[in-house]
Amino acid sequence: MTQFKLATGSLTSRQGPILLGITEGKNLPSWAGGWSESVRKAVQRLLGSGQFKGKLNETFLLPEGSRWLILVGAGKKEELTLDRVRQAAASASRRAMNAGIESFSRGLVQVAQATAEEVAQAVTEGTLLGTYRYDELKNVPAEERRRLKSVTMVVPAAKDLSAARRGVARGRVIAEAVCWGRDLINRPANRLTPRIMAAEAKGAARRFRFSCRVLDPARMRRLGMNAVLAVAQGSVEPAQFIILEYRGRGSRSGGPLLFAGKGITFDSGGISIKPAAKMEQMKYDMSGGAAVLASIRAIAALKLPVHVVGLVPATENLPSGSAQRPGDVIRTYSGKTVEVENTDAEGRLVLADALGYAQRFKPRAILDLATLTGACVVALGHHAMAVMGNDERLIERVQRSASRTHERVWRLPLWPEYGEQIRSDVADLKNVGVGGGGTITAGYFLKEFAGKTPWVHLDIAGVAWAESDQPYRPKGATGAGVRLLVDLASHWREER
Ligand code: BES
Ligand code: MN
Ligand code: ZN
Repeated sequence: MTQFKLATGSLTSRQGPILLGITEGKNLPSWAGGWSESVRKAVQRLLGSGQFKGKLNETFLLPEGSRWLILVGAGKKEELTLDRVRQAAASASRRAMNAGIESFSRGLVQVAQATAEEVAQAVTEGTLLGTYRYDELKNVPAEERRRLKSVTMVVPAAKDLSAARRGVARGRVIAEAVCWGRDLINRPANRLTPRIMAAEAKGAARRFRFSCRVLDPARMRRLGMNAVLAVAQGSVEPAQFIILEYRGRGSRSGGPLLFAGKGITFDSGGISIKPAAKMEQMKYDMSGGAAVLASIRAIAALKLPVHVVGLVPATENLPSGSAQRPGDVIRTYSGKTVEVENTDAEGRLVLADALGYAQRFKPRAILDLATLTGACVVALGHHAMAVMGNDERLIERVQRSASRTHERVWRLPLWPEYGEQIRSDVADLKNVGVGGGGTITAGYFLKEFAGKTPWVHLDIAGVAWAESDQPYRPKGATGAGVRLLVDLASHWREER
């Protein structure tokens, strides 16, 4: 991965390619003062020509003598935010990388109401997330792979150096975790089975020093995790129930923060089979589980003073002679019975067992993440996850993390009337709601298993996969939720 170096002094004295952020407008940006006549003239001419306006994420490679100036638009100066810095860093880095530029220097911009540490973190995240590619299965010789080898961040004020160093370190840990999550999600289902996912979790646990236990189907049967097993019974791949635990030094007692993530490594729909179009994308149905694994990896690597538990019920959802049938009734871990009206509503089934099992840890709060409903994509498109929950304070905390990380959430209600839609004639609940509001009835179903524990559900169906390149979300798996969960854990000890 790209190396980050820090330096103090002025960007103008650096050799080699330089990345410059340019705000929108005809005038030269304020950094231009210190630059040579030739640089100022070249940029001025470009702005005058209208070929480059400084609009957010616009890029331009401008030769200056024998080197490149990598110009990136930052949008209007008064609208600059940390997320725009993250985006611009991503756009510029990707442009440079694709042009074969292997290293460059750049500055540290100022953002109103943000610290140097936060800006350095955003720059690092943008750079690493924006240059991510999933290429482990392509036969391209290493020397032909375009790669950004190093970025030198030049910090003008020496007093900001240690803050910048902290921001870079933090940004790197988080971005590497997100990219690991993306790799797991992008990996095809034949190369990321539940057992391989569990092995990946164990590998990360060893490397980052947290614990990982995996329950096999025999163990799950003894425990009564029949909902996970019912989904798994159509597949020859054994289900795996992954349990992570990280106890940071200085974490208080009083119950862990618990993350649960849907780990369907492939969702064909089962007997209620999906149409063929885009079915191949359903390898991303373990994105919630990947977000749980990756966020706990980052939390452990950052040594945050929190106690976190992660639960990932991992299985395939396939049709076969042994698959569950529509109409089957299963007894979940919690004892509640569920009529399986549609085998394609499998995410809520595996999460029902995970939420039931979560109670064993007496968690202070539960957050679950899942690519749960197509209806969520209809409601919010690809710009936000849906958030629902049973605890106002926890919802607000998630909303604050969402605005800090720009992993946007939008709240949906869980009024009791929605609960009426999932009443079954033959069991306590059924797994599909009659009538509309599919994202909410799915959320309501989960609420029935969260009990009295403060709980929040995030439906990430619309944000877990990018249909086309976005600045720091290249096409494919996005790693949605990881930055949000890490932020929540970072602020967990405050205000309680
Ligand atoms: N994994 C899907 C939801 C999904 C669909 C995520 C499209 C991302 C993109 C989930 O298991 C599912 O199939 N849900 C059904 C539920 C329905 C049968 C009540 C759906 O949304 O159609
Ligand atoms: Mn499904
Ligand atoms: Zn699914």
